[in-house]
Amino acid sequence: MIYVENLRKEFKKTIKEPGLLGSFKSLFHPKSEKIVAVDDISFEVPEGEILGFIGPNGAGKSTVIKMLTGILTPTSGKCTINGKNPTVDRKSYVKEIGVVFGQRTQLWWDLPLRETYGVLKEIYEVPEDRYHKRMAFLNEVLDLESFITSPVRTLSLGQRMRADIAASLLHSPKVLFLDEPTIGLDVVVKDNIRNAIDYINKTEKTTVILTTHDLADIETLSKRIVMIDKGQNVFDGTISELKSKYGQIRELHFDTDTANVEQALAYAEHFGISDDVVTTETDGKSVKVRFNSSVVPVSDMLSYTLGKINVNDISVKDADIEEIIRRLYKQGVQDEEKA
Ligand SMILES: Nc1ncnc2c1ncn2[C@@H]1O[C@H](COP(=O)(O)OP(=O)(O)OP(=O)(O)O)[C@@H](O)[C@H]1O
Ligand SMILES: [Mg+2]
Repeated sequence: MIYVENLRKEFKKTIKEPGLLGSFKSLFHPKSEKIVAVDDISFEVPEGEILGFIGPNGAGKSTVIKMLTGILTPTSGKCTINGKNPTVDRKSYVKEIGVVFGQRTQLWWDLPLRETYGVLKEIYEVPEDRYHKRMAFLNEVLDLESFITSPVRTLSLGQRMRADIAASLLHSPKVLFLDEPTIGLDVVVKDNIRNAIDYINKTEKTTVILTTHDLADIETLSKRIVMIDKGQNVFDGTISELKSKYGQIRELHFDTDTANVEQALAYAEHFGISDDVVTTETDGKSVKVRFNSSVVPVSDMLSYTLGKINVNDISVKDADIEEIIRRLYKQGVQDEEKA
């Protein structure tokens, strides 16, 4: 349904030499520098799926979304959505997709929201009766009623985001591109928006590509993740695959009367391995041991602890996706794979 193949985008940036002479020179002999925003990205999204499209700042996510929505033309490679090429089939293509860029609104700043939707209805040629039904539906899902007569510029960020999402859904698109739809929102509004996306996806089989830095968005909405870094693919798979591939780090927690810092530190010594594999933390009463379970099996860690220390309470925490991704972003996925 969505095919992305070796997509690449280069930008040219003109470099100006310093000073007035520099400005003069660059006016007549502009020098430019090539920026590779997207190097080589490929993935597929089947119909009806919500894909979590993630990566660190500057990875190239928004640039990919802009190519998929026809705002930018790829330097090379190709993408097709429902068999359409976003730049070539632009006119018919825009009716099939919805787009939200959380960082900036696509609504008209001074128009009351209701009138904005009226304009969009004309642009997308939504028939009158369909429009009324759709507005009633969107109002129910996104709760627009209390601010629908207000000019967009007076809306709070949470209201504006709901308004933007409603605008992107007005013409019942088959594919929805959401670039950071929960950025800067409080937990309650984030929840509303996640529920709305989930509901639309379930009831209308809308295919969704979702970019976010909030991993709770991904965990509640998508089973699959495509992760990119420096314009390249670094991971493509389900969340459980991500956990089993990179999530060997576990946390053992226990409470004890006798535990002290030395006892906790004895872990690393016992296993005779580096601090990267086992690290300990204690407040004198409860102890937290982080360990790499592919080097030290969970069962060894448990039996060693129970044999040596009188514990009151013990638990092993599963690999946490937030932790895995933080580690991958920090170190780079390629480095992680070498290790
Ligand atoms: N119009 C442009 N001209 C020059 N460089 C650009 C342009 N747009 C993006 N870039 C560069 O391309 C790279 C990728 O940017 P992009 O906005 O796609 O990243 P992103 O993954 O969306 O990041 P973020 O998580 O911060 O939104 C960055 O280095 C950015 O500076
Ligand atoms: Mg971005």
